[in-house]
Amino acid sequence: MKDKKAFKPCDLVLFGALGDLSRRKLLISLYRLENAQLIEPDTRIIGVDRHAHDNAQFIDIAYKSLQEFLNEAMDEVVWKRFSARLAYLQIDLTQTEQYKLLKSVTDSKTRVLVNYFAVSPFLFKNICQGLHQSGILTEESRMVMEKPIGHNLKSSKEINDVVANVFSEKQVFRIDHYLGKETVLNLLALRFANSIFTTNWNHNTIDHIQITVAEEVGIEGRWDYFDKTGQLRDMVQNHLLQILTFIAMEPPVNLEAESIHNEKIKVLKALRPITLNNVEEKTVRGQYSAGYLKGKAVPGYLEEEGANTESTTESFVALRVDIDNWRWAGVPFYLRTGKAMLSKRTEIVVYFKQLPHNIFSDSFRELPPNKLIIHLQPNEGVEIEMLNKIPGIDEHIKLKKTKLDLSFSEAFKKSRIFGGYEKLVLEAMRGNPTLFLSREEIEQAWTWIDSIQNAWQHLNAEPKSYPAGTWGPVASVALIARDGRAWEE
Ligand code: BG6
Repeated sequence: MKDKKAFKPCDLVLFGALGDLSRRKLLISLYRLENAQLIEPDTRIIGVDRHAHDNAQFIDIAYKSLQEFLNEAMDEVVWKRFSARLAYLQIDLTQTEQYKLLKSVTDSKTRVLVNYFAVSPFLFKNICQGLHQSGILTEESRMVMEKPIGHNLKSSKEINDVVANVFSEKQVFRIDHYLGKETVLNLLALRFANSIFTTNWNHNTIDHIQITVAEEVGIEGRWDYFDKTGQLRDMVQNHLLQILTFIAMEPPVNLEAESIHNEKIKVLKALRPITLNNVEEKTVRGQYSAGYLKGKAVPGYLEEEGANTESTTESFVALRVDIDNWRWAGVPFYLRTGKAMLSKRTEIVVYFKQLPHNIFSDSFRELPPNKLIIHLQPNEGVEIEMLNKIPGIDEHIKLKKTKLDLSFSEAFKKSRIFGGYEKLVLEAMRGNPTLFLSREEIEQAWTWIDSIQNAWQHLNAEPKSYPAGTWGPVASVALIARDGRAWEE
């Protein structure tokens, strides 16, 4: 093992092992962890699903998934090691008595049971009951689940309650895959390990902050799920609010899960509610129409396969968010996220305040503000935009905007950047809860989102159209322009 610290090996049970999440993400991440020699030697991976397969057939499915979804050449030695961990068990997840079968393939004395629920939440109750009645759960056992954890506060509470009947809060690992992304974690380092930012990170020096999570892909084959969900629930409730809490939270006393959760919850509680009174001024809903992506014609949302042509579900959201606390008073956060946009881009831009007086009016009538740009994906890195003197012996000092550019791939050439799932699957196996979400966080986020969703429902307005391959509806430009600002382009 490369890692010095040894962790207890696991029986990692993948419920829904033949499904999309398992084949596209989990098996791929596990293989990569195997490649990096980060999985404990005695850990086993047990696929559970309702189809009648044996171990060999499951191993074959895993092999094909890797061939299809792994973006690198497979190493036969690594595969040999990896496939030796794999086993399969046929269980009809709705049949409680069948979970007893797990007894024969798990060993609670030497391994921790980690149950990954890679299935739709409507099966959670069955799985919890089945596991409970099988008698294989111990205090050490864990369960891992991910979004959608409900589609509003009520349904999210129902899911959390079902799980809480069998697992205590400390046994529950709720995933938001953005929290496994290297650059999201780097926000902690950037903010709390660099004094230039710790002292300037507030309303005294920051004018406003923008968070953009733009995706190039449209809905493509996921229409049914997405249409019931919409971009606000699919992306803002979780990923964007998580990024926002990392940027806005107070310094935690340490990196323990509880300290970080507490600070994040305080931010979520301080979000100013968006209600019927202010929803029109603070939000924009959009839906893409046919357009061009990288020169290729693409269909509009209502023309996607399986689409209901009457749908008013949003595929784009822009928001002005205010945080009512001491640090952020008067500093708006502008959030935007959408499908079928011009390019894939996830970034945070911190705009610092303009200086009170300009002595360089020969170069700039108004001095452009300093900007800190954090690229989360692609091309992870950090840039600082600042003004410098153009070298020369002219009579007047001439300034130019320049960038201090820290690209992660350049600065950390030797380090491998892992994907979000790899990090989180590993942490779940190790039992480190820091990067997972607490129940309170999820429910607080839903409370805020429900208020927006209810206001939209009340207004019953059509989403604003934007052609695929653009930065969203014109109304989103107006949203920020009303405050005398513009989106970072
Ligand atoms: C998922 C959403 O949580 O995140 C998807 O359900 C979205 O709709 C995806 O495409 C984006 O993730 P990433 O890591 O590609 O930014």
